[in-house]
Amino acid sequence: MADKPAILGGTPVRENKIYYGHQWIDDDDVAAVAEVLKSDYLTCGPTVTALEQELARVTGAKCAVAVSNGTAALHCAMIAGGIGEGDEVITTPLTFAASANCAIYVGAKPVFADVNPETYNIDPDSIEAHITDKTRAVVAVDYTGQAVEHDRIREICDKHGLLYVTDAAHAIGTVYDGRPEGSIADMTTFSFHPVKTITSGEGGAITTNDPELARKLRFASQHGITKDPAQFEEPNPEGGWYYEMQELGFNYRLTDFQSAMLLSQLKKLPAFSNRRKEIVKRYDEAFADMPGIIVQREIPESDTTRHLYIIQLDLDKLTCTRAEFFNAMSAENVQCQVHYVPVYYFPFYARLGYEHGLCPNAERIYEHIMSIPLYPMMTDRDAEDVIAAVRKLTEWYAKTSN
Ligand SMILES: Cc1ncc(COP(=O)(O)O)c(C=O)c1O
Repeated sequence: MADKPAILGGTPVRENKIYYGHQWIDDDDVAAVAEVLKSDYLTCGPTVTALEQELARVTGAKCAVAVSNGTAALHCAMIAGGIGEGDEVITTPLTFAASANCAIYVGAKPVFADVNPETYNIDPDSIEAHITDKTRAVVAVDYTGQAVEHDRIREICDKHGLLYVTDAAHAIGTVYDGRPEGSIADMTTFSFHPVKTITSGEGGAITTNDPELARKLRFASQHGITKDPAQFEEPNPEGGWYYEMQELGFNYRLTDFQSAMLLSQLKKLPAFSNRRKEIVKRYDEAFADMPGIIVQREIPESDTTRHLYIIQLDLDKLTCTRAEFFNAMSAENVQCQVHYVPVYYFPFYARLGYEHGLCPNAERIYEHIMSIPLYPMMTDRDAEDVIAAVRKLTEWYAKTSN
């Protein structure tokens, strides 16, 4: 007889709650921030430049522009790419809303392509099927950290003259066919929110190999202002104080102390990445033959630094619903989350006329998944507890044994 779930009065697998993600901040991160706090520059200073250089090095991109968060990064990518009124931008519904919202910020329309039912990443065939004469860009999301099928998407974008943006909010550290995320698409956006692999509390960046796009990204994120006399439209008629606003931009600056924190965190990226890989490997082994559980398929090209570990419930083999399983995991003190409600399900999108049924694979996946804890600070014991909770519940709710 399987152990009774805690939600039904049994003993939880662990005493204290473990969450799906958590940052890892050491004394050296704190010291790096403190040093900059006592320096001359809190913003617009040399540490931001140093971070941008390091991000370019780590991602293999020619240029990096630091911004205040991943949403700002996506917005700037749309602006720099010249996306605007009447344009269509193809993206995935299985993502955080910002991947689609960025199109709306610039007056364009997000169009949702379906995902591959096994990898959960945007399906290149579905991208192609959604191209119209209004399509201008693709925003592909490296969902959970796994690289999208870059080569195929690149080919489609080149064939149809589309801008290729990758939302790699989940994927710093991931390498696709030998190339790090950040060096592949026309622009790649990153987020440094606390559940992400490296963090500065809030933070973001865009990488690109095109210096002209980098210049436009800087404009978009810094009020459309330049202080460089060489860039002034007229020779400087005013004086040394003069700066010039040439475009309508935003204040999406990252501070120097956040940049210091990210520089410190970047030093640990290889260790964070390895630890995430170890936990993923252990989970993969444990769930490979566990009835009732299906795991995300990896494409061989992706050497993934996984941000999220998703389990998909095979509800044909279980007597419970996804919500019951989710609540039962919580009662075992393993707090999961669901990534994501398909973006077009939200009331804002419904009011724009998007309807359920647009992307059947994404909708089906959404109904069956949850993200279990995955972060580098987890101990082996923590990971075993998570596995024990999943095993306990799949056994209890197994159709054959009840
Ligand atoms: C896929 C994806 N894109 C964009 C974002 C937005 O990033 P931020 O929260 O830094 O604005 C997130 C953050 O959760 C995300 O997961």
